[in-house]
Amino acid sequence: MLTLKKIILIVIGFFLICLITIRLNLNSQNKLDKIGYDQKTLQLINQKLTDSEITDLKERKKINYLNIFIKEKYYLHKNLDRYLAYYTTHPEIEISKIISLVNVNADAIAYKNIKSADLSKGNLILVNKYNYLDSNYEPDNLIDLDLTYAYKKRQTIEEVKNAFIKMYNDAKKNNIDLFIASAYRSYEYQKNLYTNYVLTYGQEYTDTISAQPGFSEHQTGLALDIITYNQPMSNFKYTKAYQWLKNNSYKYGFILRYPENKEDITGYAFESWHYRYVGIKVAQEIFDANITFDEYYAFYIKKY
Ligand code: DAL
Ligand code: ZN
Repeated sequence: MLTLKKIILIVIGFFLICLITIRLNLNSQNKLDKIGYDQKTLQLINQKLTDSEITDLKERKKINYLNIFIKEKYYLHKNLDRYLAYYTTHPEIEISKIISLVNVNADAIAYKNIKSADLSKGNLILVNKYNYLDSNYEPDNLIDLDLTYAYKKRQTIEEVKNAFIKMYNDAKKNNIDLFIASAYRSYEYQKNLYTNYVLTYGQEYTDTISAQPGFSEHQTGLALDIITYNQPMSNFKYTKAYQWLKNNSYKYGFILRYPENKEDITGYAFESWHYRYVGIKVAQEIFDANITFDEYYAFYIKKY
């Protein structure tokens, strides 16, 4: 049985704990306050940063410009010093753009600071100029695409094939004919492709249109180059098939992977034909947010 004495002790204990917590919070707030951050910045620090990130901030002098970066939607505190460095050398670039560029590593030289792609991410694996696949990597569930969907023998993974067939059938109902120009490409295939492009166009230009071997997401089996009949790839952007794919492919789990005006973020020229399978949920999120997969990955998949 709870005696009155015990109840009083519990109530007092509870109030003491509340008081200590409030005091600790105030202290913490005061410390950042003293460093000189304004109220709005303090609020954002508390909203967006983890406890250890806040501790890190308290140990530093006031960071000029923190206020202009922290209000951006895709701000990642771990990248703060890189945002500041990039801003110093590129003051003309919009802050939101700096956030995007740094988050996707575009402040580093392409193909220099590279990491092995994280295979555990499944359909959400990121392969770009900073994340590579080994030369012997091959997806384990490759299957053939019927010649209804592609001129030559092409392969992809089963989930992607099924999603494409659904999309193909719905496009047909809208009098749109889709077909696949390229799907899974092995490391060796990409190597030949890239080497031939370099011989024709030189390396600098080639690097804006083709991935180096090991750095192409075609090697994942999750990418499809989709076009329509009787049109060269270079004209695809003018077709109604492109307009339809651009506005509907997310419903089937595909995203336009190298969009127009995002060249500096993806590292590639606009490719109206290249679609990447990420599954319906993520494709919808990327479509709604109007961001690239590289940005999505940095912010939602590999935040810390
Ligand atoms: N054209 C794309 C970037 C590739 O080569 O994978
Ligand atoms: Zn492609």
